[in-house]
Amino acid sequence: MASLADPATRFTHVAHLAPTPVAERDAVLANPGFGARFTDHMVVIEYSEEHGWHGATVQPYGPIALDPASSVLHYAQEIFEGLKAYRHPDGSMALFRPTANAARFNASARRLAMPELPEDLFIAAINALVLADRDWFPTVEGGSLYLRPFMIATEAFLGVRPAKAYKFIVIASPAGNYFKSGASAVSIWVSDYTRAAPGGTGAAKCGGNYAASLVPTAEAFAKGHDQVLFLDAAEHKWIEELGGMNLFFAFADGSLLTPPLTGTILAGITRDSLIRLARDEGLTVREEPYSLDQWRADAASGQLVEAFACGTAAVVTPVGQVAGRDGSFEIGGGGPGQLTGKLKARLTAIQRGEAPDPHQWVHQIG
Ligand code: PLP
Ligand code: COI
Repeated sequence: MASLADPATRFTHVAHLAPTPVAERDAVLANPGFGARFTDHMVVIEYSEEHGWHGATVQPYGPIALDPASSVLHYAQEIFEGLKAYRHPDGSMALFRPTANAARFNASARRLAMPELPEDLFIAAINALVLADRDWFPTVEGGSLYLRPFMIATEAFLGVRPAKAYKFIVIASPAGNYFKSGASAVSIWVSDYTRAAPGGTGAAKCGGNYAASLVPTAEAFAKGHDQVLFLDAAEHKWIEELGGMNLFFAFADGSLLTPPLTGTILAGITRDSLIRLARDEGLTVREEPYSLDQWRADAASGQLVEAFACGTAAVVTPVGQVAGRDGSFEIGGGGPGQLTGKLKARLTAIQRGEAPDPHQWVHQIG
């Protein structure tokens, strides 16, 4: 089997015989929402112990056949990533920090006992898909093409050990706003459940983490909130992260704080980018533990002026309300704050090619 050492030239393209009609696609692109519609193609790459990564294909989007004994269906050996492609004002297409996603994907792979994928192959697969589906960029303000690379264990075997065969797949979905409510700030519910314990898989982007977050998330929705907040597993005191986003806190003295990467939360690429952009602006950013009690007290005293969630899907979203078993409190006036707005504008201008890219984060496609 051919090696994929030079992946850019080795994708087999399978033609789509019935792509989405233009009028239907245009309607989706004008109002994409999040994660509900998918483009016409997907990339699939196979892995076996014997051949390594092989058989890279850009093919029509559609169902995949799996043996019912595939390990992923029983023991959840699955990891994924999330990143976005943007259409720049000059018509070019670009990814934001794809090498960081490739590195995190491999860190997740190591934790889930899965084979690593060469970083250049990860990026080449995404490039190939965006090029095939270049007509799928949303036309709506703030829109982008959300890419979802993932890997599943496909070996048909029920013994509990790492599988010997895998599929790496990339799908794409036109994306607008993650939060349906369209509210200027979101409301979060502090869960009594915990998401990740020391030594667990909290820092890996594996599907199992999200499966375990669904009951707490459903509870948050049922109580009228937009997202769930998890505290640490040991003391149930320290703020960790939301179901699918990291958190930042902004204080009256102009400084920022975000919980540290201790192994139980995801090392968000948006989080890392915002830390750098804030420091570029001369702001102090502390990566320190912050307790829910302190948050409540600081919000009441006026020490804390803003809080926001951040992630690829959510971008930067102000948190206006926090509620939990011990009551609720508001942050600022319950709406978006100034620093949140400034950092969001700084980040998105770089992502969208509307401002210089001082950290070489933007990766042109094509
Ligand atoms: N935390 C969790 C649990 C997530 O699922 C995500 C989303 O990917 C993030 C944080 C933010 O990470 P990133 O900024 O890399 O998208
Ligand atoms: C992302 O922001 O890319 C995520 O993965 C969060 C969520 C949609 C799972």
